Amino acid sequence: MHQDVESIMFSKEQLQMRIAELAAQLDSEYAGKTPLMVGILKGSVMFYADLLRAMTIPVEMDFMAISSYGAGSKSSGEVKLIKDLDRKIEGRDVIIVEDIIDSGYTLSYLKRMLYSRKPSSVKICALLDKYSRRVVPIEADYKGFDCEDEFVIGFGLDYAERYRNLPYIGILKRSVYEK
Ligand code: PRP
Repeated sequence: MHQDVESIMFSKEQLQMRIAELAAQLDSEYAGKTPLMVGILKGSVMFYADLLRAMTIPVEMDFMAISSYGAGSKSSGEVKLIKDLDRKIEGRDVIIVEDIIDSGYTLSYLKRMLYSRKPSSVKICALLDKYSRRVVPIEADYKGFDCEDEFVIGFGLDYAERYRNLPYIGILKRSVYEK
């Protein structure tokens, strides 16, 4: 375990088992279709790569990047599009792949924006759901795990851009961010 990690919340094995279940569920619910898997950079990258590799139906890949307007503005719900999709999504079945839903601002903004482009459907697949922090009412259609309100890092999740490459999801030691 990394020295800055207090404890492991979801091990590498737990993550892979749950991801395999989610992939099987998506395979069956999207059978006969070719969903467009939209990964939200950067946090979703590990989940996205493992989820897509565990799926067996044909999929297409695309990515978006979102940022908040300046410091602290996430709590105001203002988000900005940094990178848009490469292709049109009209008539497509879109699955947004996220690492975590916290306040819900990011996904509610994204869902609204994508819906305006007339896709056939838009669903949300999130690895973690920090439900206790929700400000706007948004739910994942496919969810990996409920997550306690702890500072979680690893498997794509960062603190100041670090720890994204840990193969598990852990709780960050308070001493690291209260320095
Ligand atoms: C995180 C996460 C979600 C968002 C969730 O991204 O990946 O996109 O925050 O929070 P919300 O529900 O409160 O909107 P972040 O902005 O930290 O960027 P990153 O993915 O590059 O780490």
